[in-house]
Amino acid sequence: MNVAAVILAAGKGTRMRSSMPKVLHPIMGKPMASYAVKAARQAVGTTPVLVIGYEADRVRQTLGQDADYVVQDPQLGTGHAVQQAQELLQGKADFVLVTTADMPLLTPETLSRLVATQQEHDGPISMLTVIAEDPRGFGRIVRSPSGQVQAIVEEAQATPEQLKIRELNPSMYCFESAWLWDALTRIPLSPKGEYYLTDLVGIAVADGGSVLAYPVEDPTETIGINTRLHLAEAEALLRKRINRDWMLAGVTMIDPNCTYIEPDVIIGIDTVIWPNTYLQGSTKIGEGCEIGPNAIIRDCQVGDRCKILTADMDRAVLEDGVDVGPFARLRKGAHLGPGVHMGNFGEVKDSYLGPGTKMGHFSYIGNATIGSQVNIGAGTITCNYDGEKKHATEIGSDVFVGSDTMLVAPLKLGKGSRTGAGSVVTKDVPEDTLVVGMPARAIKKLRKRD
Ligand code: UD1
Ligand code: CA
Repeated sequence: MNVAAVILAAGKGTRMRSSMPKVLHPIMGKPMASYAVKAARQAVGTTPVLVIGYEADRVRQTLGQDADYVVQDPQLGTGHAVQQAQELLQGKADFVLVTTADMPLLTPETLSRLVATQQEHDGPISMLTVIAEDPRGFGRIVRSPSGQVQAIVEEAQATPEQLKIRELNPSMYCFESAWLWDALTRIPLSPKGEYYLTDLVGIAVADGGSVLAYPVEDPTETIGINTRLHLAEAEALLRKRINRDWMLAGVTMIDPNCTYIEPDVIIGIDTVIWPNTYLQGSTKIGEGCEIGPNAIIRDCQVGDRCKILTADMDRAVLEDGVDVGPFARLRKGAHLGPGVHMGNFGEVKDSYLGPGTKMGHFSYIGNATIGSQVNIGAGTITCNYDGEKKHATEIGSDVFVGSDTMLVAPLKLGKGSRTGAGSVVTKDVPEDTLVVGMPARAIKKLRKRD
C-alpha cells in the first residue's frame, strides 16, 4: 500500500527572531528541515511533500530535489496546510504521514512504526503522543474514562482541568487518505481564525472512527524548535546521539562533549578523536587515525593511520600514514600522498605531495606537483601568483629544497636537484643540479643519485 508524507514547514518561526525561515536554521551543519525530510523519506519510501509558505523560494532552493513542494499562502493553520497537498496526493497514496519540519530528532524508526501501526489499525488516524512534565505549549490529548482518545485540545482553549493533562500532541499522525481529504473540509474555523489539524481527532470520533494514540519511547525525539534555546538543545542531543553511535562502532573519543561530528561523516575503527575536533560535511576518516585536539576537517578524505594535530582542513585528501600539524592549513585540492609529513605552520592548496615527502616548517605550497621523497626546507614558498594568474610548480622526486627558497612559478625543479638556502629560483633547474643565489644560478653539477 502506498504511503505519502507531508511535512509542515510554512510558518515563519517568529520566536527565532531571525530573518531566515526557522526550518532553514542549521543543526550540525544541515538545515533543520532536512532531518524531517530524510526521516520521512526513509519511513515511507517516497519523496515527501513539504508545505512551504514563508520565504518559500529560499526553502525550496536550499532543500532542492530532496522534497516535492506545495505553497500555502495565506497560512491558515495546520489543517489548511495539509489540505494544500491534496491535489498532489489524492488517489496516489492509501496513507498519509504528517510531520513537522521543526522536530529534527525524530527518527525514521519512530515514523515507520507509526505508519505500520496505522496500516494495521481499523480507523482513520494513528498518532504519536508524548508524556512529559513540561507541557511546552503542546496540545493536550483528551481520553474517555475507558482510555479512548476523544480530542486534542490546544493549550489556548484548554480548561484548567485539561491543562493538567500530561499526555501531549507532538504532531505526528498517519491518516487513512480515503477519509482524510474529506475530513479536512469539515474542520471548523478556530477562534484564532485558523483550521487546526488537531480538530481531525474530534471529527474522526464523531464519525464513529477510532483514533489510535500511543506515546513515543524516547520523548527527546519530540523536542520541537521554536527558539534558539531549543535549537542549541536539539543540537546537543543530536551530537550526543551521533557520538554515541560512533563510539559503539569502535571510535574512541577522549571527550565526547567537545567532539563535533556531522551526520554524514564516516570514521574507521580504532581512530582516536581528541577534544575540540570538528568533522564536517562529507568527511571520511580511515582506521587507526589520531585526530585532534583542535582539528577542523571539512569535506576531506583521510586514509588509515593518519595523525592530524591542530589543523584546519577543507576539501583535502590525505592518503595512508600522513601526519599533519600542529598548525596546518590544508585548502581545496591539497592531496598528500602516503607517508607525507607536513609539520607546523604549513599551507597547501591545489597541490600534490608525493609519497614520503616532508615539509616540516612554515611553507606555502600552491598549484604544485611534487614527487616522492622530496624535502621542502623551512620557509619555502611557491610564488604561484603574478598578480593576474596562478602558475604551476613541478618538483621532481628526491629534490632537496633549501630553507627559505622562493620558487617563482611557472617553474620546474628536475629530479634530484637542490636549491641553496635563501635562493630565489626563477628558471627551471635541470636534474641533479645545485642552484643558489638571487636569482638562483647553477654553480655545479651534482653527483648522480644512486
Ligand atoms: C501544533 C499543534 C499542537 C502540537 C504542536 C506540536 C495544531 C493546531 N496544533 O501547534 O497540538 O502540540 O503543534 O509542535 O496543529 N504550519 C504550516 N502552516 C500553517 C500553520 C503551521 O505549515 O498555517 C506549520 C509550521 O510551520 C510548523 C507546524 O506547522 O512547522 C506547527 O505549527 P505551529 O504554529 O508551530 O503549531 P503549534 O502552535 O506549535
Ligand atoms: Ca510549534
